[in-house]
Amino acid sequence: MRALVIGGTGTLGTLTVGELERRGVPVGVLSRKRSPLIVADWRAGDLVTGEGLADAFHGVDVVIHAANVPPGESARAMANLLAAARETRVPHLVYVSIAGIDLVAWFPYYRAKLDDERAVQQSRVPHTIVRAAQFFELIEQVLHRCRRKGRIVVPAVTLQPVAAAAVARRLAGLVTSPPVDRGADVIGPERRTLASLAREWNPLAAVTTEPPDGELFRAFAALTLPARTGEGPTWGEWLRERAV
Ligand SMILES: NC(=O)c1ccc[n+]([C@@H]2O[C@H](COP(=O)([O-])OP(=O)(O)OC[C@H]3O[C@@H](n4cnc5c(N)ncnc54)[C@H](OP(=O)(O)O)[C@@H]3O)[C@@H](O)[C@H]2O)c1
Repeated sequence: MRALVIGGTGTLGTLTVGELERRGVPVGVLSRKRSPLIVADWRAGDLVTGEGLADAFHGVDVVIHAANVPPGESARAMANLLAAARETRVPHLVYVSIAGIDLVAWFPYYRAKLDDERAVQQSRVPHTIVRAAQFFELIEQVLHRCRRKGRIVVPAVTLQPVAAAAVARRLAGLVTSPPVDRGADVIGPERRTLASLAREWNPLAAVTTEPPDGELFRAFAALTLPARTGEGPTWGEWLRERAV
C-alpha cells in the first residue's frame, strides 16, 4: 500500500502525510516547491501544467488531492490530474472538498470546487470525495484579519469548524478503504458563532459583531449546517493543545 499526497506541504497535506507515516503507510508528496519540513519521498509536480503527475502516480495505490488551486486554474488542474490518473490506472483518488458548498454555488471558489467534484464523479477514476468544514487554522487566519486596535470585529456568522488534524485522520483512514464516491462530511464538534470563537481565542480583546456583508462571510453564513455530531477536538481544546 503506497499513498501520494498532492499538496502534502500545505496545512491539511502536512498533517495527512504525518498521519499516514504514523500508521506506517509509505507516503510520497507532490508539490511545486519542496518544503524543508517534508521528510517523505518528495516529487516536483504541478497540477496546472500537468508536469510530473504521471511519473509520480506510477505504483501508487491512493492519490490524495489536498492541494489548493485558485478557481481560475482548477478546471485545468483537475483535467490534468484525471488524465494522469487514467493513464497510470490509479486505483483510488481522494478529493478534498468543502461542506455545504452547493448552498453557495455563486461563490467562485466554491463553484470551482463543485465543478471539480463533478469532474471527478464523471471520470472513470475510482474515487472518494470528502467534504470538510472550515479548518480551525483558517478561522485563526480570519480572526487575525479581524483585529482592529485591541478589538476584534467579526461578522455575525455561525460555523461548525474542524481541526485540520481531524480531517487528516479521516483521509489517512481512507487509504485502506475501497472508493465510495462520496464519504461523510468531516465537521467539528461544536456549532459556534465566530464571535464566541474570537472571545476564546483572545479573552482580553473586546469582541463586537457586524452584519456579514463581505462576499466570503455571506458564503460562510450559508454554510451553517444542521447540528450534527462532529469530529476532533473543540476549538478550546485545540487552542490549549497548541499552547503546550
Ligand atoms: N482551509 C480550509 O478551511 C478548508 C476547509 C475545507 C476544505 N479545504 C480544502 O482542503 C484542501 C487543502 O487546503 P489547505 O488549506 O490545506 O491548502 P494550503 O495550505 O493552501 O496548501 C496548498 C498546497 O497545495 C500545493 N499546490 C498549490 N498549487 C499547486 C499546483 N498547481 N500543483 C501542485 N501542488 C500545488 C501547495 O504546494 P506548492 O505551492 O509548493 O505547489 C501546498 O502544498 C483544498 O482543496 C481546500 O479547498 C480547505
